[in-house]
Amino acid sequence: MADVSVPPGRTGGIVINDDWPGYSLDLFSFPAHYSGDLDSVIIPHGLIMDRTERLARNIMDDLGEHDIVVLCVLKGGYQFCADLVDRIKALSRNSNRSIPMRVHFIRLKSYLNDQSTEDLHIVGAEDLSFLADKNVLIVEAIVGTGKTMKTLLKHVEAFRPKMIKVAGLLVKRVPLNSACLPDYVGFEIPNHFVVGYALDYNEYFRDLNHICVISESGKIKYKI
Ligand code: IMP
Ligand code: MG
Repeated sequence: MADVSVPPGRTGGIVINDDWPGYSLDLFSFPAHYSGDLDSVIIPHGLIMDRTERLARNIMDDLGEHDIVVLCVLKGGYQFCADLVDRIKALSRNSNRSIPMRVHFIRLKSYLNDQSTEDLHIVGAEDLSFLADKNVLIVEAIVGTGKTMKTLLKHVEAFRPKMIKVAGLLVKRVPLNSACLPDYVGFEIPNHFVVGYALDYNEYFRDLNHICVISESGKIKYKI
């Protein structure tokens, strides 16, 4: 399929436009050790939580009563996955419908500094044969070029699950293969390198609650 860029609104997530300057960091609290390393808050933590609650309901509406295996893509997906699973659990407790869930972790690594590399490693995915005939929900923090998701989907499909759905908190508007858009999208964002809420730049910034745009000096400070 041809590569296309994501037109605004295409993903079904909350659209954050290219001209959105973000919120000033002075309006929020964040760890002092990142002073000067960030340009702006693009998505405050509270908004992430509110959107996640709704994604959980959408997933529940579609998959309620099905047994699912949640496949959390580490490391960046751990926070979103934990919060999403938490919300699905809350819905399961408080309604007649419920989703029996198992949670499994898979680790992928492809980025050096702010650049995607061709060298994608799948760690901890040796044997996923238990996925055969199961309903799988892949939970990923961010889809950029879509290369990572494409590789992961191919890998998971080989184990013949009954169904695969993908939940992605963020989708960047970059040229990407349309076939790789997640089924559930939190936000559609401009093509900036973002950090926080478990998203990292060379392993830093995972300990930041809000999703922020890294500053040029932050990139230089943590470059390897
Ligand atoms: P893709 O292969 O370009 O779609 O990139 C997906 C992977 O790259 C994600 O799983 C993230 O680990 C990482 N990534 C892409 N964009 C960002 C970003 O803006 N901040 C942090 N990590 C990112
Ligand atoms: Mg990373």
